[in-house]
Amino acid sequence: MTLTVSANGAEIPAIGFGTWELRGETCRQMVTRALDAGYRHIDTAAMYANEREVGDAIRDHVTAREDIFLTTKVWYTDVGDGALQRSAEASLEKLGIDKVDLLLIHWPSPSVPFDEQIRALCKARRQGLAAHIGISNFPSDLVEAAMRHASEPLVANQVEYHPYLDQRAVHAACRKHGLALVAYSPIDRGQVLQEAVIEEIAEEKEKTPAQIVLRWHIQQEGVVAIPRSSRAERVEENIDIHDFALTPQEMGRISALARPDGRRIDPQWAPRWDAAA
Ligand SMILES: NC(=O)c1ccc[n+]([C@@H]2O[C@H](COP(=O)([O-])OP(=O)(O)OC[C@H]3O[C@@H](n4cnc5c(N)ncnc54)[C@H](OP(=O)(O)O)[C@@H]3O)[C@@H](O)[C@H]2O)c1
Repeated sequence: MTLTVSANGAEIPAIGFGTWELRGETCRQMVTRALDAGYRHIDTAAMYANEREVGDAIRDHVTAREDIFLTTKVWYTDVGDGALQRSAEASLEKLGIDKVDLLLIHWPSPSVPFDEQIRALCKARRQGLAAHIGISNFPSDLVEAAMRHASEPLVANQVEYHPYLDQRAVHAACRKHGLALVAYSPIDRGQVLQEAVIEEIAEEKEKTPAQIVLRWHIQQEGVVAIPRSSRAERVEENIDIHDFALTPQEMGRISALARPDGRRIDPQWAPRWDAAA
């Protein structure tokens, strides 16, 4: 049983399964393996082109639908009033369900008026398309702006977060307003795992480097992590992090890996990020 993070009325399992780049049969199989391994939180998006396979795996699994926290996202070109709701409806059709647990704006749109994006998201919740709503790739100033425009509770901001990337400003904004910070690329796609500090702590604890980094995430208040893998043994490894704890000193040593060039995902439509440490 994974821990959950309480966020403005939502109970979000602290480890979720990411599905970006998992397609077709591999996606269906890996989501099934994730549910077998005890994941109760699955992350997809309209953009991932795998909602049908995610939906099939969830429907075919023995786990009751209400026990699975399912997130999908609306791509940033579809966040105008009307377009956002149509995207959410198309996702539900592909997923084969009548409501997602969490619907996110995948990226803030640089062209649709900001207040319209947030109002459309809130409307989708009122229309019953999602139990909860949230945002993704919003830096701290846009979290504040979103809170000002939202007429429904926002429960999460999904952002890039791993030991190389200082996200204290976003984390503080999320804590101030009760949102979960959902860490994407939580192990920096494997690149942080060879760090000597991580390897050393892993050896001491008899855990793998990925388990150390994922434990570092979920020991932070209000933080959820959604690692992805296409290998069954790693899917199991990444959720098996509940039988040990990191000391405050170990947490600090891992956080000290943050560096100014730690951000990996920075497309041309990205917002102005918080300053790096
Ligand atoms: N909101 C957004 O804009 C956004 C952006 C990016 C990602 N996301 C979400 O976040 C999820 C996770 O992020 P991510 O996929 O970018 O990166 P990630 O989870 O940090 O890393 C995935 C990579 O690490 C490898 N890996 C997984 N477990 C491992 C382990 N225990 N030991 C060693 N290597 C391991 C995987 O390879 P194998 O497959 O070979 O195991 C894969 O190449 C995505 O799938 C997606 O759902 C959201």
